[in-house]
Formats: sequence, C-alpha cells, structure tokens
Amino acid sequence: MCGIVGYIGSKNAGDVIIDGLSRLEYRGYDSAGIAVISEGKIDIRRSVGKLKQLVYQLSKNELKGATGIGHTRWATHGKPSEENAHPHTDCSGKIVVVHNGIIENYLELKKRLVSEGHKFKSETDTEVLAHLVEESYKGDIFKAVVAALSQVRGTYALGVICSDNPGEIIAARQDAPLIAGIGDNENFIASDIPALLPYTRKMIFLEEGDIIRLSASKIEVLNRKGEEQKRKIQNIAWDAVQAEKGGFKHFMLKEIFEQPQTIQDTFRGRMNPETGKIELGELNIPVEAVNNLSKINIVACGTSYHAGLVGKFLFENLAKIPVEVDIASEFRYREPIIDKNAITIIISQSGETADTLAALKLVKSGNCRTLAICNVMGSTASREADDTLYTRCGPEIGVASTKAFTGQLTALYLLAIDWASKRKAISKEKAEAVIKELWEIPGRLNEVLKASEDIHALAKEFSGKRDFLFLGRNVNYPIALEGALKLKEISYIHAEGYPAGEMKHGPIALIDENMPVMVIATESKVYEKILGNIEEAKARGGTVLAIASEGDTQIKAKTTRQIFVPRVDEIFSPILNVVPTQLFSYYVAVVLGCDVDQPRNLAKSVTVE
Ligand code: M6R
Repeated sequence: MCGIVGYIGSKNAGDVIIDGLSRLEYRGYDSAGIAVISEGKIDIRRSVGKLKQLVYQLSKNELKGATGIGHTRWATHGKPSEENAHPHTDCSGKIVVVHNGIIENYLELKKRLVSEGHKFKSETDTEVLAHLVEESYKGDIFKAVVAALSQVRGTYALGVICSDNPGEIIAARQDAPLIAGIGDNENFIASDIPALLPYTRKMIFLEEGDIIRLSASKIEVLNRKGEEQKRKIQNIAWDAVQAEKGGFKHFMLKEIFEQPQTIQDTFRGRMNPETGKIELGELNIPVEAVNNLSKINIVACGTSYHAGLVGKFLFENLAKIPVEVDIASEFRYREPIIDKNAITIIISQSGETADTLAALKLVKSGNCRTLAICNVMGSTASREADDTLYTRCGPEIGVASTKAFTGQLTALYLLAIDWASKRKAISKEKAEAVIKELWEIPGRLNEVLKASEDIHALAKEFSGKRDFLFLGRNVNYPIALEGALKLKEISYIHAEGYPAGEMKHGPIALIDENMPVMVIATESKVYEKILGNIEEAKARGGTVLAIASEGDTQIKAKTTRQIFVPRVDEIFSPILNVVPTQLFSYYVAVVLGCDVDQPRNLAKSVTVE
C-alpha cells in the first residue's frame, strides 16, 4: 500500500503534490519522492524516511514546474532506501513512473530487459514499468504505457510523465485504487480522496483496466484500445478526517474491511492456483534445510502469538514438522534448548517489539536459522533475521491488530504448504486443492463482512455484560484467545479465551446468566465435541453465541444467537472465524463509547520491555 499524487495545471506542482502526499502518509511512510517537468527536463527528488525528510530537502533546493507526480512508499519489493524510493526512471531519464501495487512477473521481465541492455538502478518491481514504457516509446507516451501494461501481471495504480510532453500525465488502474480530480484548468490524480480535498471535490473513481490521459484542461478516460469510457463525476462531501478513514468511523473498522484485499496482497505472486505451486523467491532457505528441519519454534507477542498458535496446527497438519510456540517474554528468560537443525520463526507486525527482538537475538546466538514474518519492511526484525517473509498489509494504524493478523495467517499458510510440498508430506493434488481454497478466501471473507450490521445488533444486545468467555478447539482455540484479546483491549470488558475441552477442569464454575459465551463452532473434526461443550454451558444458565457454518440447523436449535460464515476446509476456518470476533469487539467498544483506535494504556508497538 503506497500513496501516489499527480498534478498538472498552473500552480507549482511540487507544492500541490507534497501537500497531497502529506494526507496519504497513512498509506506508507518509509520513503517518498517527487518528479516534475522543469523547463523540458525531469527533476527528481527522493528521500528515505517520512515525508518531512523530503520536505526538508526541497526547502534547500526548490522544485519548479507545473506537471509532476509523487509517491509515499510502503515497501514490498526492495528495502526502504533512496534508490528504491519512487519515482523510477527509464535509461534515458525522460520517462518517470510512480506505482502502487505489485508487478508479479517483474523478475522475468527484468531479466529480459537487462539482457537487452537496460540498466536498472533499484531493486523494485516498479522500475520494470519505466523500462517497458521506454522500450515501446515512439513519441506517443499513451501508446507506450498501454504496450507496457500488456506485458505485466499484477496490480497497479500508476502515474507516468515524459519530458517530451510536459502537458500530459498518463495514469492507469488495475486492482489498486486511483482517482482523478477535476479542477479549474488544472487536474489531479491520487490514490485516495484526502489528497485532493483542499483542491477539488469533483472526482472520478477509475475502474479496473481504465487508463487516463490528463492535461490541465481535460481528462480522458480510455480503455486499452484507446476507446473512451464513460465515468461518473462524483461530488465528495466528506471532511478531511472522514476521508482519511475511507469513510469509516475508525481506522480499525477500515482495516477490518480491508482484509480481503490485504490477504490477496500477501499471497499475490507467491502462489499459483493453476500450477498448484508456491514460490517464495525472497526466501533463501535451501530445500535440504527444509527437509532436515527437526523442529519449528514460533516466538511472538499478543495477536502475533495467536497467529503462531494457528501456525502450529498448519505446520504439524500439513508439513508434519513438530512445532513449539512461545510468548517472547517467556521464551527469552526460560533458557530454551536451541537446536541447530530447527528454525525459529518470529512473528511481528511492527518488527520492533522488544521481547520478540530479544528472543530473536537469543536464538541467533545459538546458531539457529531464523525467519521473520513481518509487516514493516526494513524493521529491526527483518534486518536481524536470516530471512523475512513480508505480509503486505500496508500500515496498520488501529492499535488493535486485525489485518496484520490475517496477513500473518496467510504467510503461515504459504510457508506450511510450501514446506509440506518440499518434504513430500502432502501430494501434488492435495497441494493444488489447498492452494485453490486459499485463493478463494478473500471472496469468502467478503461474505463474512456482509454480516457486519447483524454483528452490530448483537454487540448492542451484549455490550452491558462485564465478563465474556470465548471458546474454541483445535485450530480455532487460538481464535478464542484472539477474540477475547480484542474485546479486552478495546472495550475493557473482562474476557477469557479457553480451549472448550478445558471448561470442566475449572472455568465452568464461572458460567451463569451474566457470563455470555461465544463459541467457535464451525464444521470440523471436533464439531461434535463442541456441541457437547455448548450443552455444558447451557446447563449452567449460560447464554451461548455461536460462530457457525452456513446452513447449520443443529447449532441454531442449540444456541441463543448465531453468526454464520461460509463453509471452508477446517484448516482455513480461523482466517474467516476471526473476523466476526473483530467486528463484535469493535461494535461493543463503539456502543460503550471507547476510544477504539487508541485504547487506554496501550501502544501500537511495544518497543520497551
Ligand atoms: O508488532 P507486533 O506484532 O510484534 O506486536 C505484538 C503485540 O504487541 C500486538 O499484537 C498487540 O497484542 C496488539 N495490540 C493486539 O491487538
């Protein structure tokens, strides 16, 4: 997730673009850059770190020109550095590109372009676009962009300028957001509404496959054949704060709703449902090392720890590798036995959690191979671990982690399937079937999100309770823990997550009419057992809310309230089941008037012990 802005008109493009980018920093902030056409030449400035670094650079040497494009980056391919910051140029330096998205086939394209003499200056996937446009450029930049796009696979929102034609910006959209803003003898492009609000309220929301030609006086929306497309001009009434949250009341809700997209971003280009193959090109773990793994240690904190618990089921079930999962603050002080043939996976959204980093240091000192599953490129964890598999969720702003969790699960699915295939623990057919099902998960999640208003009603009904119990079994036990954590941290209601089978060993004594129980009861090999646990809770006067599989009539008869989710293979149920618990916690907190995005006593990243 990155932010792009483009301007063409009579103002100083640099000022408008920097102002627009400052309103898009929530989309990425590890580096930023800008290019304008100044007296027929391209002038580019880039800088690592937050936008203010770029602003400081510009304050010393101002940019002049009335056509330009800019970018604020959330790295996915190539570490945060000045070379990898956008915009990127072709060999001649005449063509400049900013991009948000992922070019899946960039390695093969890059190989070909390099063999034909193109000189690359960055590690990014984006740079191939600049060279592809260069290759097809014969004086018409629009045609060259179309020809370039016909060769790429992936997602993009794109802005392109060429010094030969200072009166034009070309932009295109495929599975990444892009809008055009209409001004008075000036026009704009941006990834999102807030960037443009101070300048115009008249906007066009581009559709997949659209490619636009922008001059100061005109916006033409075309398809790849150059045919005009009719798009409605919308009048935006939002204020700036509403716009930054995409119209959602809180970042947390926005991030919950982003999950179908962020899951897709995490697996995109890394698995192929047609060939049944996983390709994690960024990892440097030889097949022999995977085959010789004696054990996996997973170490993490909070929500990331819960993802690790799901990971245990995946690695044991699919790859048949024994797994131990630890809370980092416990692991670092318990003198763990570090096995050189094991691998330690640390999971961290931020990559900066102090206890997780200390655990990483400890295993490294024991010469154990390490792998980080991390969301923030260039974070300490990603620099310290031998390998890193990035979840590509974009910045998570709500303190309560939601999309990072499902991104972590997606990364764990990819790893578990890959290692299971390499170790021949699953057949080719099974790998294909599992990959196909993972591919379908974003669509299924969209179905779950449709229940949002029903869950809101449920939250209103139960928000007066002071205690809550979440029960799950097997691969959904971690989801009970995560559901309870979400409710505690944002609504301050006491909640406990328990393996349902443990109830009769003590906690069942707590159940009465004041202690509602949310049971994760989707179809699984322990379904009958869960039904038994539901009966036990009901017999003690408990009110039971169930998360259940669509069409389950038994559960309807046995529980007080139900939230239904699509049927999927049991191993994929956690990634769907967690979402109703996120929505439930969110709405309870809203009903209680809590500060959802910044709950009391909590920090987004716990960088001290
Ligand atoms: O950045 P990390 O994933 O290492 O953070 C770990 C925990 O601090 C984090 O998951 C925390 O539990 C969240 N607030 C949960 O919503």
